[in-house]
Amino acid sequence: MDNNDIAKLVETSDEWIRERTGVERRHIAGKETTVSMAVEAGRRALANAGTAPEEVDLILVSTISSNVLLPCAACEVQKELGAVKATGFDLGGAACSGFVFAYNTAMAFLASGVYRTVLVIGSETLSNITNWKDRGTCILFGDGAGAAVLKASEGQMYRPVTHSDGAKGAALTCESRYTKNWKEIPEENTYMKMDGQAVFKFAVRRVPEVIGEVLEANSVAPGDISCYILHQANRRIVEAVAKRLGEPVEKFPMNLQEYGNTSSASIPILLDELNQSGALKKGQKIVLAGFGAGLSWGASVLEW
Ligand code: UT7
Repeated sequence: MDNNDIAKLVETSDEWIRERTGVERRHIAGKETTVSMAVEAGRRALANAGTAPEEVDLILVSTISSNVLLPCAACEVQKELGAVKATGFDLGGAACSGFVFAYNTAMAFLASGVYRTVLVIGSETLSNITNWKDRGTCILFGDGAGAAVLKASEGQMYRPVTHSDGAKGAALTCESRYTKNWKEIPEENTYMKMDGQAVFKFAVRRVPEVIGEVLEANSVAPGDISCYILHQANRRIVEAVAKRLGEPVEKFPMNLQEYGNTSSASIPILLDELNQSGALKKGQKIVLAGFGAGLSWGASVLEW
């Protein structure tokens, strides 16, 4: 769905959306669901990593937009992939920080020796919780999924840095339809509602800060980082983060022009595209950084 398609639904224009966000298109699921995309992303990640489904100990699916409450998306992935040994559960609600938080959860299990092989998936059909009458949000979001396989190794473990600030949660909300008083909930509250400016200001301040914290916590200098893979929310946010860190914007790859903001799927989709294009070299240090509803934000350093 390109920006001109959006302009048929709400009062906006291709020019406005490109200038303010960098988004040109977003992919909207037709028959696909959060679960079916999670399965496909998981299947491709395992094939790409040369890992058999039977080797997987843990499947984590980060999503705020699953088509099922029970069984969880991760258990559906486990069944469909034949990952018979794996335990599966979903991480809901971490939203645009979701992939980074799921990655950190996986790393904690690997570091403690509880599991040795983890499949981490971010999958979203945000189109189902988007208010297509609200131009402040519907221009931004898209559907998609991405996945990564993490394995225990003897290499260095990097400490993540994460934060939550529930006091600012009202900046980005979506009320559940599954409550006793659902008839009293205004319909627009059951779609994502956002104070765009508040989230923008939060992101451009907190993301560079948390990247600085994670580099310091791990005694890594910015010059040692090959690329910063940020949650893909808005081109202006990514550029502002690069500027505040004093790092060249070329170290901040983007694909939001093609997919929009896919919440917990944005980082693994970008990781996969960079990997497929040969841009990631073994041993390179990479920063992942997510931010969004909660409010929540966090960053991790990893070695490819
Ligand atoms: O994943 C994490 C969650 N989300 C984010 O990171 C999003 C963070 N926020 C943003 O990306 C930006 O705040 C938006 C893209 C949502 C909005 O951009 P903005 O530069 O903050 O615009 P604004 O809300 O300050 O609005 C500026 C003007 C207003 O008109 P007036 O009052 O100046 O006459 C809006 O009514 O633009 C108007 N406007 C639009 N015009 C055309 C707002 N949305 C649109 C639109 N098309 N879609």
